[in-house]
Amino acid sequence: MANYQWKHAEELQQTAQSMVAHHKGILAADESNNTATKRLQEVGIESSEESRRKYRQLLFTAPDIENYISGVILYDETIRQSDDNGKPFPELLKSRGIIPGIKVDTGAKPLAGSPDEKVTEGLDGLRERLAEYYNMGARFSKWRAVITVGEGMPTQQCMEANAHALARYSALCQENGLVPIVEPEVLINGSHDIDTCEEITEENLRTVFNELYRHNVMLEGTVLKTSMVISGLDAKNRAGIEEVADRSVQTLERVVPPALGGVVFLSGGQGDVEATQHLDVMNKKYKNRVPWRLTFSYARALQNPALGTWGSDMANTEEAQKAFAFRAKLNSLASEGEYSEDMESKAA
Ligand code: G3H
Repeated sequence: MANYQWKHAEELQQTAQSMVAHHKGILAADESNNTATKRLQEVGIESSEESRRKYRQLLFTAPDIENYISGVILYDETIRQSDDNGKPFPELLKSRGIIPGIKVDTGAKPLAGSPDEKVTEGLDGLRERLAEYYNMGARFSKWRAVITVGEGMPTQQCMEANAHALARYSALCQENGLVPIVEPEVLINGSHDIDTCEEITEENLRTVFNELYRHNVMLEGTVLKTSMVISGLDAKNRAGIEEVADRSVQTLERVVPPALGGVVFLSGGQGDVEATQHLDVMNKKYKNRVPWRLTFSYARALQNPALGTWGSDMANTEEAQKAFAFRAKLNSLASEGEYSEDMESKAA
């Protein structure tokens, strides 16, 4: 490692710092066409290339979001789309001071030898795809691994296979000037308690950082996207806000090197308000103690109210944009520990 020369060290560090700038976080709008279809159908909207484009346009043109959103993770279809005036989405975002990013994995597939678990694929041809995305304006990328919690799971084999792929992806991203978002999500599904989640999260993160080290990944030019340490959705006596915040930060402190560019959280099926509250308490209690920014990179917890509003009346783009900007603003405040619950009742 000591002799390894990173080609784009300065650019990568600058991008990583901008991604986690104060008062800002990342919008995940990289739902695959299958997931986007599911989300649109849930609110009664037919999914097509055009309805997905309209919906993403609504998000990317929402007033004021550049004050709260540092970057947007796009999907392959979306990075090639344009607004109604023909401006490509990456250009539109850039003109608002928002960094375009791109999801580059090709999805989580059953892991051979342990088919109830998943391994994320997408390394084939990745070098060439990254070069293309960079030319289209992307400056960071995302790869999501999923770790299932259950009887005898996760296996060491699953954690190692996913960590290895995350490290190879990260090294390729950095070679091509893109900051890797490394996302090893421990799924919230199940009846496991918070102790189990903590133990698995810690071991999983250790496995990931060991692999990043082996693959000469520059931590200063890397952003970790992690799940919170939280009780399973079906657990009895789910842990409260304060406990989730404490355990999440303390687990990170035990495993994540200070050199890392920053930490962002996924919402992973938490309620919108709950996800904001957790982030807020983490920052209220720990922001002056931890060496990294702790901010958001939510999909559902940022988009749900906007999607619901648009679903009930597609003509009402303005209201949907307001609903999105409102959640973005509250999470921006939470990323500094400046949120309070009474803000929820105030209009955007
Ligand atoms: O990969 C997952 C997304 O980037 C985050 O989505 O906040 O809905 O869990 P979520």
